[in-house]
Amino acid sequence: MSTPFVSRYGPWAVVAGASEGLGAAFAEALAARGMNLLLLARRAELLAEVKERLSVTTTVEVRTAACDLAQADLAVVLEGLTRDLEVGLAIYNAAYAPIGPVLSRSTDELLRVIDVNVRGPLVFARTLAPAMVARGRGGIALMSSLAGFQGAPRIATYAASKAFNIVLGEGLWSELSPAGVDVLVSCAGAIRTPGYARSSIKGDAPGTLDASVVAEKTLNSLGRGPTVVPGATNQLARFFLGRLLPRRAAIAIMAKNTKDLS
Ligand SMILES: NC(=O)c1ccc[n+]([C@@H]2O[C@H](COP(=O)([O-])OP(=O)(O)OC[C@H]3O[C@@H](n4cnc5c(N)ncnc54)[C@H](OP(=O)(O)O)[C@@H]3O)[C@@H](O)[C@H]2O)c1
Repeated sequence: MSTPFVSRYGPWAVVAGASEGLGAAFAEALAARGMNLLLLARRAELLAEVKERLSVTTTVEVRTAACDLAQADLAVVLEGLTRDLEVGLAIYNAAYAPIGPVLSRSTDELLRVIDVNVRGPLVFARTLAPAMVARGRGGIALMSSLAGFQGAPRIATYAASKAFNIVLGEGLWSELSPAGVDVLVSCAGAIRTPGYARSSIKGDAPGTLDASVVAEKTLNSLGRGPTVVPGATNQLARFFLGRLLPRRAAIAIMAKNTKDLS
C-alpha cells in the first residue's frame, strides 16, 4: 500500500518496546497506515501475539526480534536486524521506571534506567538515522513524558531520563531537519497501558489517554516537532508546570501525583 505516510516514512518502521501498551498501539497504527514493521522487545511470546493480531487486520510484513535494548552491543544488534530493510521510521518507546525514592533503589536498578531510557534511544537514533539522512527522508520519534519537564520525586531517575530524551530530541530535530528527517519527542501524560496499570494504585489520573490516541497523535505530529504533548488536559498541565509555576511548585505538584505510584 503506497500512501503519503509510506512515501515519507516507509517502507519499514522499527518500534523499540512493542510487545504491549503504547508500543503495540504504535504497531497497530503504523500497520493501518501500510508500514512494514520490525518490532522489538524482550518477551517473544507477546511480540508473536502482536504479530498474530496484525496478520488478521492487515497485509503488511511484520518481523519480530526478542532483544534487550539495554544490552551493550545494541548498535551491532540493530545493524544486523535492519541490514536488509529500508527503515524510514524509528520509534523508541521502551522504558524502565522503578518506583520509589532514589535511596530505596539499588544503584544497579538506577543505572538500568540509564541503559534503557538514555543509552537505548541514543544508540537507536545514532544507528538508524544515517541511512535516512542518506535517503533525504525519514522520521525518528522518542517517547518522553510530562515527568521530563521538572524533577519528580519517587521517579527521579526516570524523570531525568525523560528530560534527556526531550533535550536530545530537540537537538536532533535541529540537526536532521535540513536533511529531511523529522525528529519528534512525544511528551505524554498518563496512558492506559499494562505498565501504567501495574504502577498506579488509584487508577486513572486526570487526562489519562488510551494508548491508541497517544500513538495516533504522535504519528500525526511527525514533521511538526520538536515536541508534542498529546491531550488537551496534558497540554494545560505542561503550561502550568513548565511555564507558569515556579519550579519548586511544579516539583511539589509532581510529588502529589507520584505518591500514588507503587
Ligand atoms: N504509561 C504511561 O502512563 C506513560 C506516561 C508518560 C510517558 N510514557 C512513556 O510511554 C512509553 C510507553 O509506556 P508504556 O506504559 O506502554 O510502557 P510499558 O507498559 O512499560 O511497556 C514498555 C514496552 O517496552 C518494552 N521494554 C521495556 N524494557 C525493555 C528492554 N530493556 N528491552 C526491550 N524492550 C523493553 C516492554 O516489553 P518487554 O517487557 O517485553 O521487553 C514493552 O513492550 C514509555 O517510554 C513511557 O516512559 C508512559
